[in-house]
Formats: sequence, structure tokens, C-alpha cells
Amino acid sequence: MRIDILTLFPEMFTSFLAGSLLGAARDNGLIDIRLTNIRDFADGVHRQVDDRPFGGGPGMLLMPGPVVDCVESVQQSDPVAGQLLMLTPSGRRLDQQMVESLATKSRIVLLCGRYEGFDERVRETLQPIEISIGDYILSGGEVAAMVVVDAVARLVPGVLGHEESAQQDSFSGIDRLIEGPQYTRPREFRGLCVPDVLLSGDHGKIAQWRHEQAVRATHRRVTTHS
Ligand SMILES: C[S@@+](CC[C@H](N)C(=O)[O-])C[C@H]1O[C@@H](n2cnc3c(N)ncnc32)[C@H](O)[C@@H]1O
Repeated sequence: MRIDILTLFPEMFTSFLAGSLLGAARDNGLIDIRLTNIRDFADGVHRQVDDRPFGGGPGMLLMPGPVVDCVESVQQSDPVAGQLLMLTPSGRRLDQQMVESLATKSRIVLLCGRYEGFDERVRETLQPIEISIGDYILSGGEVAAMVVVDAVARLVPGVLGHEESAQQDSFSGIDRLIEGPQYTRPREFRGLCVPDVLLSGDHGKIAQWRHEQAVRATHRRVTTHS
């Protein structure tokens, strides 16, 4: 899978992309992640990418020229155009189903905003899919792009090394239940014991217990957080 990230701050991605899972996935050729600086497509000695909004108002907007030129150049760098995704708080809220769908693409292109966002003609010209990572405002699209890359990358075959674990994660698999409680050593911690069933060696009983716990956890989340 190829992932292009278009940003004014490519250096923000350095340690993120070198991290264990992503670093290994890139080294193994499972994911090809490329960073492009939108500023490289700006004109003039100052390479200006933003300007004041017409009609007044606070802050600066990303001008359409450098952004559109950047996207078109990156898209043309490969025979397969990527699915263009614009990170924006007004976009569709990212969820695991969207992540699963993105993980099936051979190429995605993530467009990160900054300042007060994009001139509207960026949307009109490029018609991207708009993605939000939640109902709050970040300073830029970079952290949102990292969220998308992290969530998508772990679903690319071979990245996790144990594919079934992604199926068992919360929001995943056929039933999309929340994962129930999990335990590791020691068997007892400050008087709190690991449930006997997990030590029983009876795989059928363990699977049934885990399913019941997942149903409970899902119910609890729905009733307490919605
Ligand atoms: C400060 S925000 C602009 C907010 C914009 N003025 C508004 O009110 O919708 C700058 C950039 O951060 C990114 N961003 C901020 N919050 C986001 C979110 N919840 N999800 C995705 N991207 C976000 C977008 O790329 C956005 O263009």
C-alpha cells in the first residue's frame, strides 16, 4: 500500500514513521509512505502558502494554488491515483469501518490543513473525501493524518504479524463488540485474581466467557457514554 502525506510540517512525522510497527512495515516493503511539503509548490521567494480571508476574520487560510498543485503533482507521480482524503473537522467522523475500507485501497493521499483551514476552492477543485477524527479542533491535520495512518497500517496484511488479533480488537470482527477484560501475569495482584476460567485450559469455556464479557463491555459503553 502507498500512503502519501501532504503537509507543511513533514518533520512532525519523522519519529512517528520510524516507530516499531510502521518502521518495520516500511522496511519490509508492506507500506510505502511518502511525505511532500506543500510549501514546495508555492511561488515567490517567500514561498507563501497562506493569506488573509476575504471578508475579514481572524487567522489565515491556505491558498488554493499551492495545495491543488501539490495534490496534482503527487497524484501524477504514480500511474494509480490515490484516494484523496482531506483532514478537516467538518468531515465524516473516522470509525473502524472507514479504516477497514481505507486499508483495502492500494493508495491513499492524506491532505493536512493548517491555520484556519483551506480556501473553499480546494474542495471544489479536488473533491476529496473529508475526514474528521472527532468533534474538536486540532492546530493542524498532521496529528489527524497520523491517526489515520496508524489505524489503517495495522490492517494491511502482514503488518501486525498475527492478523487474528485485529479481528478480536474492539469495533472489529463480525460483531464489532468492545474487547472484554484481559489479564497477564501475575495470577494475583494486590488481592485481585485472574478469573479461574482463564486458567482452566478449556478453550470452549474461555471463548464463551470472553464473548460474554465483550457483550457486557459493549453494553456498559453504550449505557454510560451515549
Ligand atoms: C485550526 S484547524 C481549522 C479549523 C477551521 N477553522 C474550522 O473551524 O473548522 C486547522 C487544520 O487542522 C486540521 N484539523 C483540525 N481539527 C481536526 C479534526 N477534528 N479532524 C481532522 N482534522 C482536523 C484540519 O486539517 C484543519 O484544516
